[in-house]
Amino acid sequence: MTVYQATASAPVNIACIKYWGKRDTKLILPTNSSLSVTLDQDHLRSTTTSRADPSFDKDRLWLNGVEEEIKDGGRLATCIKEMRALRKQLEEQDPSLPKIAAFPVHIASHNNFPTAAGLASSASGFAALVASLSALYQLPADASRLSLIARQGSGSACRSLFGGFVAWQMGERADGSDSYAVEVAPREHWPDIHALICVVNDEKKGTSSTSGMQRTVETSPLLQHRIKHVVPQRMAAISEAIRARDFDAFARITMADSNQFHAVALDTEPPIFYMNDVSRAIIALIVEYNRVAVANGGKLKAAYTYDAGPNAVIYAPKENIKEIVELIVKYFPQAEKFKDPFGLFGAAGVQPQVIPGFNEAVAKPYGVGAVKSLIHTRVGDGPRTLGAEDSLLGSDGLPK
Ligand code: DP6
Repeated sequence: MTVYQATASAPVNIACIKYWGKRDTKLILPTNSSLSVTLDQDHLRSTTTSRADPSFDKDRLWLNGVEEEIKDGGRLATCIKEMRALRKQLEEQDPSLPKIAAFPVHIASHNNFPTAAGLASSASGFAALVASLSALYQLPADASRLSLIARQGSGSACRSLFGGFVAWQMGERADGSDSYAVEVAPREHWPDIHALICVVNDEKKGTSSTSGMQRTVETSPLLQHRIKHVVPQRMAAISEAIRARDFDAFARITMADSNQFHAVALDTEPPIFYMNDVSRAIIALIVEYNRVAVANGGKLKAAYTYDAGPNAVIYAPKENIKEIVELIVKYFPQAEKFKDPFGLFGAAGVQPQVIPGFNEAVAKPYGVGAVKSLIHTRVGDGPRTLGAEDSLLGSDGLPK
């Protein structure tokens, strides 16, 4: 008997121009366009296996081995329904195709990074779901078409359907048909962009993106200014900076937009704080690091950005990452040895230090654990279709 099954993986993306606010909460249509860098799946990824089988009772999904309810009309159900509809169309056009759209599906998904680390797992998760169903259903749909569906799972997920540098065009239509992701440049255009993720210790449970951004839409006057007068210019300017591989411009826009996103969060009633003292200390370090570079007649060497939580993502050309790791570790000693996927450090490991001319008084040193871990990665490719050996479902159709 034929087994109808496929496995795919999808990357995490971290925005430089932030998506924050919906004009339609059901279809997940944003109030502004956004732009992100896709990170390398060799380091951070979601992997998903989907199987269609007439012997299954109903659609079921497991995340990291734990079954999740697929609520009627919810985000998961919507994505599965939309993917099935595309398969059905195909089967109607070509009656020789097996009629698998009618079968229930089992879906198993796994993140290779701890969900508790506060890294955006919904983006890679929904992108992997859509990519695996697309492979299962053998859809001819291109990445932008699939991004329309991933968007309805989680807005930022639409950008994880592409590698490299990706824009989510907000669109204008009420049905959302023009609100999808497009490639600004593939990773091969600017492979030198690396990222250092500083996983910041955070005890308290923050406000979710979904509820936080709606409160901002309802109460922040600053958001209206951002939507009308700031984001359109920044989208154009950062796209140009990427095309020209102009890191200085890329960094200025990225940091300004992170700052404004956190400003509109603060402008929300009641105010939302995503960054903490550690996040702000990392900003101070990057600002000082850049100040020294500019004082020496150079250009910006690093850019920070923060999502809806305290973790810092530092974008920088590869050649600067070693100095940045040494800087961060000087202020935030690590319990564990730095995982060094690009072999920047020899056997001696990281030597905590600042660059000459750096004003050490800009931040106070913290104890071990304030920054829990550091992840060095870089710009990466889009979703990958994997082989049967990577399947997350056993022959019984249940998670392995
Ligand atoms: C701060 O995509 O998680 O990371 O669409 O409600 O699922 P929903 O929100 P989500 O929001 C991401 C917000 C952000 C900025 C960004 O990724 O652009």
